[in-house]
Amino acid sequence: MRHLHREKLLSLFDESQDALIYMKGADLSYRYDTDYEFPFRQESNFWYLTGVNEPDCHLIFDLRSHEYHLFVPRRDANYAVWHGRVKTREQYQNEYEPEHLHWDAELPKVLKEIDPDRIYCLNEEQAEYIEEFERKTPIDLDALEEALTHCRVFKTEWELDQMREAARINNIAHTEVLRSLEPGKYEYEMKAVFDYHHLQHGLMQDAYNGIFASGSNCAILHYVENDKQISDGDLFLIDAGFEYQGYASDFTRTYPANGSFTKDQAAVYQAVLDAQKQVIKDIKPEVSMEDLHIKSAEIMMQGLVDAGLVKGSIDDLMENDIFALFFPHGLGHFLGLDTHDVGGYPKGVERIDRPGIKYLRARRALQPSMVLTIEPGIYFIPALLKPAFEDENTAQFLNKSKLENLFDFGGVRIEDNIIVTEEGHENLTNVPKEREEIETIMAGSSA
Ligand code: GLY
Ligand code: MN
Ligand code: MN
Repeated sequence: MRHLHREKLLSLFDESQDALIYMKGADLSYRYDTDYEFPFRQESNFWYLTGVNEPDCHLIFDLRSHEYHLFVPRRDANYAVWHGRVKTREQYQNEYEPEHLHWDAELPKVLKEIDPDRIYCLNEEQAEYIEEFERKTPIDLDALEEALTHCRVFKTEWELDQMREAARINNIAHTEVLRSLEPGKYEYEMKAVFDYHHLQHGLMQDAYNGIFASGSNCAILHYVENDKQISDGDLFLIDAGFEYQGYASDFTRTYPANGSFTKDQAAVYQAVLDAQKQVIKDIKPEVSMEDLHIKSAEIMMQGLVDAGLVKGSIDDLMENDIFALFFPHGLGHFLGLDTHDVGGYPKGVERIDRPGIKYLRARRALQPSMVLTIEPGIYFIPALLKPAFEDENTAQFLNKSKLENLFDFGGVRIEDNIIVTEEGHENLTNVPKEREEIETIMAGSSA
């Protein structure tokens, strides 16, 4: 499959030029100055093009001939003793199928033979590495990144299948967490259940630091401690996913820890769910992410008005950025080999300098074969609300006494993963999110 990715990339470069693409794969990394080795994860672009999941490799694409040169490290007996079997040249060749296989020490020789007029690199670090052998050739640091981003934004059917599989296993793991949730357990016990179900399916790399939050921790957007005991009456928010073949899954659910939503929890939850379901329904080619973001914010504001937590017309609440006090992050992002995947901002498109929407990670019209998350949320964050009570303009929209009672509420986020299709969309997430469904499952598991 990787040959299709290589062809897609190379088709974006002019083949009448004497130029080459140089890329360096990832190295091993260690904890500070120790021999504690972090799990190896190939750099996403290198992985996309080669399928090589081992450290210390390099590649060259000759843009005139379209030949692929793979450079691999020559391991010695000592490596075999400490790290594992040493592959022969034939094994590397058969596994990765480059047109030319070389030991890494041959990089300067191959560069000299191709003798390019231009070298395309991804970044300064890789350019500096190649400059050690090749000082005279101009290096371009823009075109390769732009081309790879284009390739990765529009997934092939094979890539979509990898994402469907990541999601399938995440659906199982999230649902098992829901079944095992109860007050008295610790947040990390939920993480243990979640990780177990991925590991059991052979998925060993989390896609990001999972969030297993209860009570007021649910309002910390990147909460990572995961060490509090879950209390009766808490909400529990899980935002977690693993990678399958490098492709990420990224789901969030929020549940009442004791199995029943309180009146306030139900009202806030329903506002988020209504927003999430409505914008997912709207997803089809040409729809813009920022329009979806604003629409979801309007629906959530209506929910907060109905719950008596904010007051005023939806137009005024939006114009005065009141939505950003409760929904301070973006509606979603592209998803792929990275959780916050490439391509959200095409060249020349800037972030919108406005509270709430400035953290939106994708600002472009949706097209078939893009994959994205939809993850609206409402949070009660004292650090945002307290100054807003003191500001005359914002205070007029806020029901201070009610909101102060919600300082320990935390928040609600609901996140699904969506493929944009010609007809509309395909939702990869299938974890209970209707209130009744959640309460029924939770009642069943404690019976
Ligand atoms: N947990 C990362 C995200 O949802 O964007
Ligand atoms: Mn997430
Ligand atoms: Mn996300």
